[in-house]
Parts: sequence; structure tokens; C-alpha cells
Amino acid sequence: MRALFLLSGAIATLALSCTHSTLDGEDCAPGVVDFTNQIQPLIASNCAMSGCHVGLNAAEGVRLSTYAQIVQHVKAGNPDQSHLYTILFKSGNDRMPPPPMSALTQAQKDLIKLWIEQGAKNTNCANTCDSVAAPSWAQVSTVFQAQCVGCHQASGASGSVRLDSYAEAVYAVDTRGLKATLHGTGGAPQMPPAGPMSDCSIALVERWIRAGMPQ
Ligand code: HEC
Repeated sequence: MRALFLLSGAIATLALSCTHSTLDGEDCAPGVVDFTNQIQPLIASNCAMSGCHVGLNAAEGVRLSTYAQIVQHVKAGNPDQSHLYTILFKSGNDRMPPPPMSALTQAQKDLIKLWIEQGAKNTNCANTCDSVAAPSWAQVSTVFQAQCVGCHQASGASGSVRLDSYAEAVYAVDTRGLKATLHGTGGAPQMPPAGPMSDCSIALVERWIRAGMPQ
């Protein structure tokens, strides 16, 4: 009986490792986390802003701008042994991002966890482009949460711009030239400062503005 038990455990383990290897071949299968368009922007806007983990004077020498730098703090397949993940749950000033910045949301933490579990790969799945004519605020908000809100929230509103609510975002478009910042044209600063978002995300925000910023 006991041997049977052990055997079925071994089969289950085998089955699991098989699922894992198929993932290797299909980098952008449905459900695979997109490093370039989901993880990197999240880290850029919450960790790699100026004064934090970017450039020569990066806090504690930890730089988090590129894939190569980010994976140094990850143990592929094992979130609980990945500094990049465990540090999100620390308390007080040990937590990243530290107070007064907000902690990442549960959904954002889960995304990082899943990315690590899937092997922390340098995936780029740009084909997830949505072309709906009048995107909703919910869709635009997802982009802003991932790419902008780390620097533009109540506790750290760079340039006195907040993008963490519908009303604040509309205000930024109407009075702060948000649209021009997406390309950094006409004298506007480039947003995000590290470089433009994907064409897909820029087009989504532009269509939302053109449609009159539906809520
Ligand atoms: C890494 C931090 C950071 C991220 C990420 C970031 N911003 Fe900014 N943003 C700033 C800083 C700093 C300023 C003010 C300094 C400046 O004008 O360059 C600013 C200013 C702005 C302004 C005001 C521009 C002006 O001319 O006054 C807008 C609008 C803006 N950001 C929109 C965005 C949008 C939209 C995103 C996401 C797509 C974003 N930002 C992502 C740091 C950031």
C-alpha cells in the first residue's frame, strides 16, 4: 500500500516535469507571462525609477533595468527563493517598494510569482495587441498600473501627476499633455522615462483619448 503511494507520487512528479518542458518550446502559449510587456514595465515603474534601482548610484548596487539585471535576483522556478519576490512581502522599510510607496497589489505579486514559476524567461509576446476602437478605462488603467503608477501615485506623484484614478488620469490628459509624453514629442518629456511603451500600449491609450476617455 505504502509502495503504491510512493509510486503514484513519483508519477505525479514526472507528469509535472513533463508539463514544464512543453512550456520551453512554446514561449508565448496562452497563460505564459510576457516578461517584456508585463514584468519589465512593472519593475521599471515600481523599482527602477530615479533614486531607486537604476544607474550607477542604484540603491545597494542593485540595478533592475534589464532582463540580465533582473534575473540575478531570481531563482528560476522557485519564487520562495527569489529575492525579487520575497522582498515584496517584508515589513517596514525592508519591503520593496518601501513606504511611503504602496506595496504591489496581490495581482502584481501573483504575476511575478507565476513568471518565476514558469522559469523566469525573457519572453516577448507582442501579439497580445487589442485593437478595440474605444477602450475602456479598465483597459487603460491596467496599462497605467503596470507602466506609470509606480511613479505617479498619491505617495509619489512625479511631476505632480497622478495616474491612479480615472479622474486624475483625465486631468493629466487635459492639463498636463499626457498624450505627447507617450512619444516624448513637442518638448514633452518621454514617459516612461526609460523609453516608450510598446506600440500596442501607446495605441490603446491614444484610442481611449480619441474616443473621449470613456470611463
Ligand atoms: C520611473 C518613473 C516614471 C514612470 C514609470 C513614469 N513617469 Fe511620468 N514623470 C516622471 C517624472 C520624474 C516626471 C516629472 C519630470 C519631468 O517632467 O521629466 C513625470 C512627468 C509626467 C507628466 C507631466 C509632463 C509635463 O510635461 O509636465 C506626465 C503627463 C506623465 N509623466 C505621464 C506618464 C505616463 C503616461 C507614464 C506611463 C506610460 C509615466 N508618466 C511613467 C516619472 C515617471
